[in-house]
Amino acid sequence: MHHTKMAPQCGVEVSGVSLADCNDSELLEIKQTIYEHGVAVFRDQDFSPEDHIKFGRRWGGIDVNNYFPLQEDFNEIAVVKKEADQSTNIGGAWHTDHSYDQIPAMGSVLVARDLPPKGGDTMWAHMGAAYDALSDDLKAEIEGLEAYHTADHVYEEGGLYAQTDMGEHLRGQNLKTGAVHPVVIRHPQTGRKLLYVNSGFTINFVGQTREESLPLLTKLLDAALTDDNQCRLQWAPGTVAIWDNRTSWHNAMNDYAGHRREMHRITLSGEALAA
Ligand code: SIN
Repeated sequence: MHHTKMAPQCGVEVSGVSLADCNDSELLEIKQTIYEHGVAVFRDQDFSPEDHIKFGRRWGGIDVNNYFPLQEDFNEIAVVKKEADQSTNIGGAWHTDHSYDQIPAMGSVLVARDLPPKGGDTMWAHMGAAYDALSDDLKAEIEGLEAYHTADHVYEEGGLYAQTDMGEHLRGQNLKTGAVHPVVIRHPQTGRKLLYVNSGFTINFVGQTREESLPLLTKLLDAALTDDNQCRLQWAPGTVAIWDNRTSWHNAMNDYAGHRREMHRITLSGEALAA
């Protein structure tokens, strides 16, 4: 397997392996790479929906997403799509998948199925590098803090998506979610300290109102993005990206008006997070 960095502190392109039939030691190497770099990109993969599901189960299990439409014939696959006549996309802001669950999904496996002629890139940011770059004062301020995460304001009736042309295509409007996680977690496998708040789902610090939390939360969200810790993927047919939802944030670019984009996503089961 050959690794090429996508940016100084985030993401790696991996060549020389077929995800559909990698052996156990290759799978271990892939896992370790993703835990460390946040996201790994694999080009020219022959990866059917059956392969996608088999890979997710082999990794350690699949958490089915509660909101996105599911692939008709393969219900463990969430369909992340935007039609040519829609203006809103899914995931078009910095976030990490499923942080609103008390046991959040470990990661996600996204496969390109139908791409616009240009645009529709995805960006990732590395939350280990983000934590390291915080000032000592800010690190001291967030030591021991916990934060509340929910998806209700995004997906509920009257929520963010409901006000857009994506609203009617989503499921789960009646669901209630809520989870508390440390603001700084230790990666369960690498032990690295990671900043674990995100603009999509983190609402407030425990013991503080949303208003009281906003100044520090905004400071952290702003500080988390640096040029060095972000990478950007230009998709092509056959591209698969696998990312770690603890190590990284991601953001889907919405710059392909008039064209269709369809991706298939499986979210990989995770574990409870600790400081
Ligand atoms: C997401 O999982 O948030 C969507 C990513 C993408 O469509 O590029």
